[in-house]
Amino acid sequence: MKIARMRWWHIADILPIEEELFGDQRWSASMFWNELATGHHYVVAQDQDGAILGYAGLAVTPPEESWVQNIGVRKAAQRHGIGRILLENLLAEARWHSTDKTLLEVAVDNGPAQKLYAKYGFEVVGVRKGYYQPGNVDALVMLRENTREDLPENSPTEMREDQR
Ligand SMILES: CC(C)(COP(=O)(O)OP(=O)(O)OC[C@H]1O[C@@H](n2cnc3c(N)ncnc32)[C@H](O)[C@@H]1OP(=O)(O)O)[C@@H](O)C(=O)NCCC(=O)NCCS
Repeated sequence: MKIARMRWWHIADILPIEEELFGDQRWSASMFWNELATGHHYVVAQDQDGAILGYAGLAVTPPEESWVQNIGVRKAAQRHGIGRILLENLLAEARWHSTDKTLLEVAVDNGPAQKLYAKYGFEVVGVRKGYYQPGNVDALVMLRENTREDLPENSPTEMREDQR
């Protein structure tokens, strides 16, 4: 498995995974295009043949905050540590930009994702009523303080070189 920067040509392969994972709350192609055009940090996890197993994105808003935009692992590849690797990549990027805290929204009924985030020190700091539509599902807002340990020696730097 390798982590690479998300490129526009990955979007077509991401859309069916997005549908599998999020159903009627899935993102459209134009939402991904917009995220990439905005310059947010997006990565894909690929198998040795280049097939996309998962993806994740982060919006960095220095000096203080970074926001996890999304994270998804195709169902057939879940529970093999890919979600962890993607989240660690985002946290390293957040730290790289010296932001103090990382925040995210997660559906109140999404136990697996909440467990993943809790493992990395995210704590619930608020609720957004009816945040997810059309299901009218509430979102928890979770926050963690970024730490020096989030910045492995090579991770974000290697990504940058990869982007050139
Ligand atoms: C959340 C998600 C990204 C996790 O990806 P993953 O590759 O399966 O996660 P990992 O294998 O790295 O698991 C890391 C930890 O997350 C938690 N976790 C992941 N899936 C879980 C599940 N089904 N039930 C309970 N805990 C779970 C566990 O704590 C796990 O650690 P462990 O394996 O040591 O018990 C994946 O379930 C997913 O894509 N879900 C649908 C999309 C989604 O909800 N995204 C989040 C939107 S906010």
